[in-house]
Order: sequence, then C-alpha cells, then structure tokens
Amino acid sequence: MKLKHKNLLGLKDYAREEIEFILEQAQTFKEINYRPIKKVPALRGKTVVNLFFEPSTRTRTSFEIAGKRLSADVVNFSASQSSLTKGETLADTARNIEAMKPDLLVVRSSSAGVPEMLARLISTPVINAGDGFHEHPTQALLDLFTVQEKKGEIEGLKIAIVGDIRHSRVARSNIYGFSKLGAEVVVVGPPTMIPPGIEKLGCKVSYDLDLVIPEMDVIMMLRIQLERGSARFFPSLREYSRLYGLNEKRLSRAKKDVLIMHPGPVNRGVELSPEVADGPYSVILEQVENGVAVRMALLYLFCGGVDEALT
Ligand code: CP
Repeated sequence: MKLKHKNLLGLKDYAREEIEFILEQAQTFKEINYRPIKKVPALRGKTVVNLFFEPSTRTRTSFEIAGKRLSADVVNFSASQSSLTKGETLADTARNIEAMKPDLLVVRSSSAGVPEMLARLISTPVINAGDGFHEHPTQALLDLFTVQEKKGEIEGLKIAIVGDIRHSRVARSNIYGFSKLGAEVVVVGPPTMIPPGIEKLGCKVSYDLDLVIPEMDVIMMLRIQLERGSARFFPSLREYSRLYGLNEKRLSRAKKDVLIMHPGPVNRGVELSPEVADGPYSVILEQVENGVAVRMALLYLFCGGVDEALT
C-alpha cells in the first residue's frame, strides 16, 4: 500500500487504512532503535529540512534522530537565526529553501495553517510538526502507536483527553485518530476550555473528571498552555489542578490497567502530580521513544525510501 497523500497536514483527511498502514510501518522501524548500530541506508542521499518557527524539544529532536538513523541529511532551520528576523516573509523563506532541493520539509509553527499554506506554495512534501491550535498529526500517530502496543488494539477502547481542549492541536489530532480507529473518545475539562461543537469531530464531552475516570482505558492529560493564554479560562492554577489535575487519590479510582499519557512538556503539579507522571501507569517516556519509530516511518514513506536498505 502507498499513501494517497503527498503531505501530512493533519489526520482529519487520513483514512483508517492509511493510519493503520503508518502504524504498521512504524512497528518495523522500531527494531532499528535497539540495534548496536542504529543506522540503515534507507534515505541515503535524501535531505530533510526541519523548519521550526516555534520551540520544540521532543518533535524536532525526534525528527532529527529519525532522519539520521535512516541516513538522510537533516538540516535544522532556526527561525531566530534566519533572515525572517530581517523581514523576509515565510513564503519567500520556504521558496528559497525549496530552491536548494530538499526532499521533505517538516514544519512547526505557532500559527494554524502555516504547513498547509507552504504545501500549496511549494512542490516539496510537507509534514506538519504542530501548527497553532490546529493539528499535531505526528504526536497523535505516536500516541496511537503507544496505545496499540500496550493494549493490543484500539477498537473499543475508552479514551479520555483531559484539559485545555480549546488550545490543543494534540487533542484535535487524537480525536480524529482514535475515533477513526474505533475508540470512544471523551474530552474532559472546564466548560470554558471545551469549544462548542467539538462533538462534531467524533467525541463526547464531560466536565467532570471524577465521573469519567473509572470507565477509561486511557487518560491523556494535556498541558495547560500558559503561553497561549490558557490562564484566562479558569480562576487559578490551584483551582484548575483541584478539579482537573491527576493525582494518586484521583487515580486510585481508575481501572487497574489504565494508561496515563501526556504529550509533554508536563507542568508538574498542575495537570499531573509528580507521583503520577513518574508512576507505574505512566507511558509518557514510551510515547517519546515511539515518536522516533513513527517519524522514521513517516520520513521513509514521504521521502520515497528504499526497501532493500532497511537491513
Ligand atoms: N509533544 C510535543 O510536541 O513536544 P515539543 O513541543 O517539545 O515538540
């Protein structure tokens, strides 16, 4: 099977079969990360440009490691060191980078729609590495991969996504991804942080975390995004944490095999207590680990990797 899309801008337009195909591919790439020499020549001669206009630890590093493990040349573009600071437009920046003949652009922006705008302007494939409040498809794919690996299958699971749904690109991509794969998704948070009409994306809504916890197979906690003005939507961090933070007491009512997820970065003591973040139900670092395998699969698929070069 080949992907129908030239770009990965979000999971909204991806079919279940395409998502499952990416997850299957990621499974084959995961093993490479356990070899003594973690490198295969699958993308030798290919160039991947990480075009990050917003800070990132996990996504940027993970794309860089994924590219290097496949022998691609990975170039990290830093907005603060670029001619954007001299007034060059985003469009001109992308056109100039395309003129250097990369094989793929990985784009992160604080503005929704930037990866799509660039994908319309240039012919190089674009992967969205997170755009504003819109989507973060590679995060959702690694979340799906992690849940599938831990639970065996996603069909029929109950997933709670908790917190600042309004400002969360991770929530949107995960609602699409988990519901397409047959899970039941409920978003949970204060009414001010749940946009009206979110049910149309394929989820239920609850404002009461304690009511939801005992039913769930997976609880995905979201970061309170102070840099995007989240604090205007609740009285205080203490109040938010009291009602929607996950601590050991609250977690004691969950299923015994519940998975606790978080895309990172974690605000310790706000959305998760340190005991829960580092506790036995947490798969936060497994999510990060799986991010490399998922991004290896994506780079391979979007750059036209060579099958014979995987050994
Ligand atoms: N999960 C995530 O996108 O983290 P970064 O912002 O560190 O990339």
